[in-house]
Amino acid sequence: MNYIMRDPERVALRGILARRNGDARVLLLTGAPGTGKTAFAEAVAAELGAFYVYALLHSWSDDQELYQGVNVAAAVAGDAEAVRQPGVLAVAAEKSRQGMTVLCLDEVDKVQERTEYLLLDFLQTGRVPVRPGVHLQASLPSLLVILTSNGTRPLSAALLRRCRRVEMQPLPAETVEAIMAERSKTPAGACAMLRKLAYSIGERADRTASLQELCLLAEEAMLAESIQELGLIVEGWTDIRPDHKTLAPIWGEIVAQRRRAK
Ligand SMILES: Nc1ncnc2c1ncn2[C@@H]1O[C@H](COP(=O)(O)OP(=O)(O)O)[C@@H](O)[C@H]1O
Ligand SMILES: [Mg+2]
Repeated sequence: MNYIMRDPERVALRGILARRNGDARVLLLTGAPGTGKTAFAEAVAAELGAFYVYALLHSWSDDQELYQGVNVAAAVAGDAEAVRQPGVLAVAAEKSRQGMTVLCLDEVDKVQERTEYLLLDFLQTGRVPVRPGVHLQASLPSLLVILTSNGTRPLSAALLRRCRRVEMQPLPAETVEAIMAERSKTPAGACAMLRKLAYSIGERADRTASLQELCLLAEEAMLAESIQELGLIVEGWTDIRPDHKTLAPIWGEIVAQRRRAK
């Protein structure tokens, strides 16, 4: 299924792409896990026919990862040419000189402050230091930077000032159920009941099951050989064992689907 782009994201993207002042275009997507931040970046790159450069950031992301790193295998093998390996900003800078490039820096809230300042420097200048005294210069007009944040810590005001911000909302229930049915090939009615069941529970630390988990739950439910097994599968994904009365209609849909498939 294709990415379903909603109005707040669409409007922000249009606005940022129309900008002509030569500054880096930076979109910051915030919102709970599973609201489609990472998928949005991929979808935009595909829609623009752009190069896609991606990095999932961590608390240990540093200038090596951003600018220029060392390829350990090449160093051990004594392959001097390949020892230096470009960091993600260097790759994006290089690509942007060849054509439209989407750089997704995923989960930027994970990095330490120091790395955030390195990033800010890149967003201001488009420059990536590769060796003392040598820089790569990104072509900012052909670069779209998409930052995502799960909000584990606030980003600096300086970074926020450079970003067009979009707060991603959870997908509506019908869309979640349609995606579940499409990906898992489980009947729509069973998907709807499984989704409600997973959402009704509040035992989980994050209180919502992600779409990925819901799809896997629906897929695994189709493998159940008995209503008891269905109970075990639901429990495995949601931490609660629903009673027989709750499971019976879901089981009914699964059995009916199997009959149809025969
Ligand atoms: N608007 C959407 N249209 C289609 N699929 C979506 C949409 N939003 C999220 N998804 C799907 O939901 C799942 C979670 O999305 P993801 O981008 O990983 O969320 P996040 O990065 O916010 O945690 C992925 O499988 C993704 O393809
Ligand atoms: Mg993500």
